[in-house]
Amino acid sequence: MIYSRIVGTGSYLPEKVLTNFDLEKLMDTSDSWIRERTGIERRHIAADGETTVDLAEHAARRALDAAGLRPEDVDFIAFGTTTPDLVFPNCGVILQSRLGCRGGPAFSVETACSGFMYALSIADKYIRCGEAKRALVIGSETLSRITDWSDRSTAILFADGAGAVVLTPSEQAGILSTHLHADGQYKDMLYCGSGVSKGFGPEYKLAISMVGSEVFKSAVTLLGRAVDETLAANGLDRSAIDWLVPHQANLRIIQAIAKKLSLPMERVILTVKDHGNTSAASVPLALDQAVRDGRIKRGDRLLLEAFGGGFTWGSALIRY
Ligand code: COA
Repeated sequence: MIYSRIVGTGSYLPEKVLTNFDLEKLMDTSDSWIRERTGIERRHIAADGETTVDLAEHAARRALDAAGLRPEDVDFIAFGTTTPDLVFPNCGVILQSRLGCRGGPAFSVETACSGFMYALSIADKYIRCGEAKRALVIGSETLSRITDWSDRSTAILFADGAGAVVLTPSEQAGILSTHLHADGQYKDMLYCGSGVSKGFGPEYKLAISMVGSEVFKSAVTLLGRAVDETLAANGLDRSAIDWLVPHQANLRIIQAIAKKLSLPMERVILTVKDHGNTSAASVPLALDQAVRDGRIKRGDRLLLEAFGGGFTWGSALIRY
């Protein structure tokens, strides 16, 4: 049996940091309100001209270094993002040209905050069936470009960053299972209301719109089900999980999922305080941080999960 295995992780955050105190100067909000409702204290914002692929390239090179592979070795790129550099070519192709790896498939996946989970699941399948040998899986976003900085209900949440993993085939597990879902009935709960085909302009706002309380409730319910599904698919009890690596949208959502798993918060990788919600980048950013600081070790069982606009959501169980 062939599994795909994570052999390297990497991440990158833009230099500029925007704190809650900075936001207090821009809008009617407060550090204490943001911290109490979301757990966020600061976030990183891309510089003018710094793009989603710029961030991704740093993360990808770091992941490849960690894996001991050369950029030209990559034969498959799955790139989760909702904030692409261009309409086309897709971010995966632009990254491929920067890395100098030619010929293999390179594509982007546009499933909002669960973009990395979708990309990971697709790459895992290609490795398992033998059609990819060295896959780069990316989550990268410049959400600050689609943030309405006059809307205090969303501007406090979203941020920029990138994370990456490299997958190779292995007889040792590996990614044990992935689970993807979507329910388009919720499309109006969290969306960006403009686009190439729909149009731009005042009636089609290029900014994130959200019904925050509904998103919150649905995230807790649907991620809770995803956790159950993931454990059941592997015949495991919740005590089998060593680390939860959750989507970093809101500390209270993460606490609810940890409680469902009966996991103490010390076994949950948290970056939301310092990163805010970096959408598709949030899970690989958190994973990379915990691998590099030594918390996540080879052999640990990890549960990854993410939830985003659509709604879309997904999870993965991994023997690291
Ligand atoms: N600062 C201060 N007050 C704010 C505020 C801000 N940044 N944003 C909203 N408020 C106010 C509202 O205007 C409202 O005031 P009112 O009672 O006078 O009308 C009050 O705070 C409560 O607003 P509400 O939206 O009910 O707050 P909430 O407890 O639901 O928290 C979120 C709002 C956005 C933090 C919360 O709903 C949430 O995190 N939802 C999930 C969002 C998410 O994770 N999205 C991404 C998923 S991938």
